[in-house]
Amino acid sequence: MKLLLIGSGGREHALAWALAKSPKLTKLYAAPGNAGIADVADLVELDISDHQAVIGFCRDNAVDLVVVGPEAPLVAGLVDDLDAAGIKAFGPTRAAAQLEGSKAFTKGVCDEANIPTAAYGRFDAAEDALAYVRKQGAPIVVKADGLAAGKGVVVAMTLEEAEDAVKACFEGSFGAAGAEVVIEEFLEGEEASFFVLSDGTNALPLATAQDHKRAYDGDEGPNTGGMGAYSPAPVLTDALVSEVLKTIIEPTIATLAARGTPFKGVLYAGLMITAAGPKLIEYNTRFGDPECQVMMMRLESDLLDLVLASVDGTLDRAHASWKKDVALTVVLAANGYPGSYEKGTEIKGVTAPSGDAQVAVFHAGTKRDQDRLLANGGRVLNVTALGASVGEARDQAYRAVESISWPEGFCRSDIGWRAIARENEA
Ligand code: AMP
Ligand code: GLY
Repeated sequence: MKLLLIGSGGREHALAWALAKSPKLTKLYAAPGNAGIADVADLVELDISDHQAVIGFCRDNAVDLVVVGPEAPLVAGLVDDLDAAGIKAFGPTRAAAQLEGSKAFTKGVCDEANIPTAAYGRFDAAEDALAYVRKQGAPIVVKADGLAAGKGVVVAMTLEEAEDAVKACFEGSFGAAGAEVVIEEFLEGEEASFFVLSDGTNALPLATAQDHKRAYDGDEGPNTGGMGAYSPAPVLTDALVSEVLKTIIEPTIATLAARGTPFKGVLYAGLMITAAGPKLIEYNTRFGDPECQVMMMRLESDLLDLVLASVDGTLDRAHASWKKDVALTVVLAANGYPGSYEKGTEIKGVTAPSGDAQVAVFHAGTKRDQDRLLANGGRVLNVTALGASVGEARDQAYRAVESISWPEGFCRSDIGWRAIARENEA
């Protein structure tokens, strides 16, 4: 099969690496890709927001299947347009991607299906939102409704912070994404992520993972796209996973199917494990980045088979098997990230991962200049390792970090700390 992979992050390098292992794959194209993806795919220059251009490329090159990595093209309806052109595509339609594209939409699904989540109000005028915040008091969570690249959420510990967040939203800090605001009850507990694959009807559980959203050690500093992750997440025990499937995932898939907008693709549930049980914080409608990198390290099954089962509606017959090992990834980011940073600095000591690697460096923002590897983004590399425990995976990953020379980059030194503390207690 000939595939086109859309995206350019560490998630897409991990997907490309996993897809390249499939005996069914005859050709992999990636748009726009990065220097690591170029080791396993032909990079093509395509404006992915121009859906007709993507369709044209697929027709000219007899592409059998398009795999969409990031959320923006899903919310923009790329899968709908490919479907309409008769080209198979993996991922949700625009309507189903509203689970990520609109927080108010997801809250509506939760109401309809009685899914445990934070109590909330939704507002399209600042005055009403401010009155609600004052009535509820702090701590409270203020969210821009639409896609805001992970920056549209303020967990306000004081009333003043909450009021400032509401005002910023309505003053246009997040553009159209902030025209409506969702204000939520503050949930206390430990966060974890759970990923399933759906074909519109069936849900195949994939794996659990934990991300590290803050930029610096000790979960300090600004929020980022994610500075490291591990899988599985020990906080999500088998019993909790069953509960999440029954009370959160299955009702969501049933509700979208009943509405005539079935969800196909990866459903990523951001959960808070509270004293009253697991509650949904948010949905994403794609693999996480960097959670995908650790999941692909652990996946034993053929990723292409799973993707096809989602597209073709045959997930009830599919099975995913995983390595028993823990996988952990450390993100190397450019100094200054998530604020401003330099591009074009040289990185040395990175080698391409083999198919059965115990340690793999997945590229995010990188490009090649002849034989030099250059940083080309905020998050730049994902140093990923397997180990018998989170502690072992961490030691392997940080050993691999040591072998990379990039003075203009930094990483957190404590990825995995929660799970390692648990391991040490046991
Ligand atoms: P979201 O983009 O909705 O995942 O929110 C980003 C982050 O804000 C989450 O990963 C949580 O750490 C935090 N957060 C979001 N909603 C809540 C909530 N209701 N209570 C506590 N923390 C939250
Ligand atoms: N790592 C968080 C995300 O992919 O949304």
